[in-house]
Amino acid sequence: MTLKRVDYNDNQHKTYVEGRRMPAGVAARWMERFAAHLPARRPLMIIDLGCGVGRLTPALADAFGGPVVGVEPADRMRAIAEANAAHPAVRYVRGEAAAMPLPDQSADAVLMFLSLHHVPDRAAAAREIARVLKPGGRLLIRSPFSDRMTAGWWQTFFPRALEIERQMFPTLADTAGVFEAVGLKTLALVSVTETYASSAAEAAARLKLRAISTFEHMTEAEIEEGFARMDAHVAAAPDAPPDSGESDLLVLG
Ligand SMILES: C[S@@+](CC[C@H](N)C(=O)[O-])C[C@H]1O[C@@H](n2cnc3c(N)ncnc32)[C@H](O)[C@@H]1O
Repeated sequence: MTLKRVDYNDNQHKTYVEGRRMPAGVAARWMERFAAHLPARRPLMIIDLGCGVGRLTPALADAFGGPVVGVEPADRMRAIAEANAAHPAVRYVRGEAAAMPLPDQSADAVLMFLSLHHVPDRAAAAREIARVLKPGGRLLIRSPFSDRMTAGWWQTFFPRALEIERQMFPTLADTAGVFEAVGLKTLALVSVTETYASSAAEAAARLKLRAISTFEHMTEAEIEEGFARMDAHVAAAPDAPPDSGESDLLVLG
């Protein structure tokens, strides 16, 4: 089965801010992880590639000084970023991984936070990223890798979710290979623990906003069956904390 491309202008933009809200503590933890793999000097020019609604973009400017450029192809996602995630050191531009309206050797770092799997031509994206990075610049990729994934809390209620996500995400070796072809070497693979909700009931309410593109590859019937299974589970222990997830961060440079 080949998965269709998901355009965030269609559905995802409607619920992304609420459905994928990142607690401040989680954002702060990510900034610490990024800092551990970036130069100590400030400011740093950073590209948030596939920035969506700017969930992390202002935090990058606060942590690293900026300027930070959020590059986003979906007009409706970018419009939300411009309205909700403005910051004096941030600007949002239309573009995508294989075509960024930015000069050669202008960025200290490029962050791809959950955007790599949406890029149709990763070889072209790798060439473009290598073009905009300064010598010694870093590429930070936060992505699941299909060969390292296990079912998280919510996937246990949707029997096909893990299979779909294994098709959505590239393997670690394929990802490293695409960037090695343009001279970027793997420097580190870091695991970060993330907790997005404090109770199963809260996690379930957010999930029902369907702000995860995996849902776009399921039928309405299987989504409803999955939510029914989830509701039964949550009703038994609504205050139970959902499991924390382990997320991979791949650092190249
Ligand atoms: C799961 S969202 C992540 C957004 C943001 N990085 C975050 O963590 O909230 C994926 C984003 O990648 C964008 N995207 C899709 N195709 C892309 C491409 N070819 N290059 C860069 N970004 C792309 C989508 O429009 C969407 O906003």
